[in-house]
Amino acid sequence: MIPFNKPYLTGKETTYIQEAVDSGHLCGNGIFTKKCQSFFEQKYNFNKCLLTSSCTDALEMASILINIQPDDEVIMPSYTFVSTANAFILRGAKIIFCDSREDHPGIDEDLIENLITPKTKAIIIVHYAGVATDMDKINSISEKHNIFLIEDAAQAIDNYFISSDGSKKTLGSFGHLSAFSFHESKNIIAGEGGLLVINDKTFEHRAEIIWEKGTNRSSFYRGEVDKYGWVDVGSSFLPSELTAAFLWAQLENIDVIQKKRLETWDIYYKELKNWALTNGLKLPFIPTYSTNNAHMFYLICKNVDQRNHIIKSMKQKNIDVVFHYQSLEKSKFYENKHDGRELLQSEKYTNCLIRLPLFYTISKEEIYSVISNLTLIQF
Ligand SMILES: Cc1ncc(COP(=O)(O)O)c(C=O)c1O
Repeated sequence: MIPFNKPYLTGKETTYIQEAVDSGHLCGNGIFTKKCQSFFEQKYNFNKCLLTSSCTDALEMASILINIQPDDEVIMPSYTFVSTANAFILRGAKIIFCDSREDHPGIDEDLIENLITPKTKAIIIVHYAGVATDMDKINSISEKHNIFLIEDAAQAIDNYFISSDGSKKTLGSFGHLSAFSFHESKNIIAGEGGLLVINDKTFEHRAEIIWEKGTNRSSFYRGEVDKYGWVDVGSSFLPSELTAAFLWAQLENIDVIQKKRLETWDIYYKELKNWALTNGLKLPFIPTYSTNNAHMFYLICKNVDQRNHIIKSMKQKNIDVVFHYQSLEKSKFYENKHDGRELLQSEKYTNCLIRLPLFYTISKEEIYSVISNLTLIQF
């Protein structure tokens, strides 16, 4: 059996968890939490980071921070995970779904401006498969209309946008707020886990309060106040030190993990290029303004029948090939709330996108087995 994903352990996870246990500080915001947060702040030049229990939590914090009110409108791609939308739905927002690009499942940047109304509070972009959204375009829309920009960077760890002026900036550093995921399906994992990046300094203080259940406990620990209490809304968004200790073992190895994933991605791309062309499938598209973090290797089939045939044929060979999101405007929860616009590209990716096994420990033999079984399928 070749699974779609296999969580990779660097070997240091249990050592660091034991260290956390021995230290006697098991709840959140201890030494490992601080180490992980500083890692992101220093390596990627993020202004301030807070570890969360999931990317879902980080998005919910973002929604509270930008003060979403009932009937505020939030623009986001329909081809995304439910958490991107739920975080804002929970606070009463109306989601305005935007279609994907023709050449890539990410949001079609050129469609956004037409969706902006006086009620628009934020644009949420998702760097699908870790591939950068065109941040030159997105930044100028957000600035021109004075609308919050939030990056759902769940899949985008260690990836960069190259601007038209040649400058290179980490994904996650553009949004007023950004969210990453360390779910076991991601490049860097903690079982469940996430990170809120606070690039807009005006959110720093309140973010810490919301993170600590609505209290000013962080200020108290820094000696800034002599007692702590309930000062705002909040929730239990911070993970325990056990999660942070696990994550630290992964972050120490990020360069090795990324290199190996990229090697696998490159083999798939090279070996499947001609076959895809001959059989009407499309390979992943990486625009020149994006680097590749090899989060995912996907293919776009020519139709849903071809997609189902591939998944079934590979299953018979014990190889897990899987589809991905279901366009959210057509979901049971949202179909009656959507404004009726057809989102044809998003539908296309719902029906035609497949993902191949890609994980750190996949062997060369397994990669070539995926390739040969795929290319032997008769259409
Ligand atoms: C684009 C996107 N956003 C958010 C999430 C939620 O991440 P988490 O499971 O860490 O809450 C996911 C999960 O895969 C995702 O793909």
